[in-house]
Amino acid sequence: MIVYFTGTGNSRYCAEFLADRLDDVCTDAFGYIRDGIAADLHSQKPWVFVCPTYSWQIPRVFAQFIRSGKFTGNPDAYFVMTCGSEVGNPEPNNRAVCGTAGLEYRGTAPVVMPENYIAMFSAPGPEEARRIVEAASLTLEKIAETLRGGKDLPPLPVHMLDKLKSGPVNAGFYRFYVKAKPFTVSDACVSCGRCEEACPLGNILLRDGLPEWGDCCTHCMACICGCPVRAIEYGRTSKGKTRYQCPPYKAK
Ligand SMILES: Cc1cc2nc3c(=O)[nH]c(=O)nc-3n(C[C@H](O)[C@H](O)[C@H](O)COP(=O)(O)O)c2cc1C
Ligand code: SF4
Ligand code: SF4
Repeated sequence: MIVYFTGTGNSRYCAEFLADRLDDVCTDAFGYIRDGIAADLHSQKPWVFVCPTYSWQIPRVFAQFIRSGKFTGNPDAYFVMTCGSEVGNPEPNNRAVCGTAGLEYRGTAPVVMPENYIAMFSAPGPEEARRIVEAASLTLEKIAETLRGGKDLPPLPVHMLDKLKSGPVNAGFYRFYVKAKPFTVSDACVSCGRCEEACPLGNILLRDGLPEWGDCCTHCMACICGCPVRAIEYGRTSKGKTRYQCPPYKAK
């Protein structure tokens, strides 16, 4: 079973691509995470956890979802981390997460997809995004081939800097940067409620038709990138930047 977490659709796209090639099914972790329900899933095929990279690790909310879940049937677990550029050194943590969930770690594969982190960087325009997604197909085909053959994914190369990024930089990132406070909403808001619905942590509530953010945010970018009228900003950092959403995967 392919189990995914996504903010702006890249990981859903990759999960559906892999499900298609592996003749497997996809499960979205969104409902479990949002409702605080522990997963209780069964699969005869290996587990493939697909998610974005947040500061050179899998997202903490997704790690917690796996740790607290029950995954029965096949014990093998693979990770596919979509990223804007690189994943650092996530393997020790992914292995540990598997250990807690009673799963056998079989490797991690990075897949470069369009950058979505507009609270820090910029997202590509539609044409560049299309090219990046097209190029990711080759990587996904190779991953599917490895999984079909029942092999381990090759170990990721690790340098000193990768250990630093996935270790202390990741810890500092969550502690000091991942906050909802800078989110603002403008008069352009049409009170559609889409941001409230999209938040995997239920961190947005509409009051008098306008979104208000709570303290529990994982910077997934679903709210700001999913607003149909671009009424949401993240301080001044997001001003003028492309709002990114991955198009749905279409089987060929
Ligand atoms: C909070 C946050 C942190 C990110 N950190 C990284 C990173 O460390 N390395 C990287 O290459 N991309 C990073 N990105 C980019 C995303 O991992 C990438 O765009 C991913 O494909 C988004 O997936 P999604 O559309 O499924 O949410 C980050 C994005 C966010 C929102
Ligand atoms: S998604 Fe945008 S328009 Fe809709 S309620 Fe949220 S801020 Fe307003
Ligand atoms: S508030 Fe926005 S960025 Fe934060 S977790 Fe919810 S949808 Fe994601």
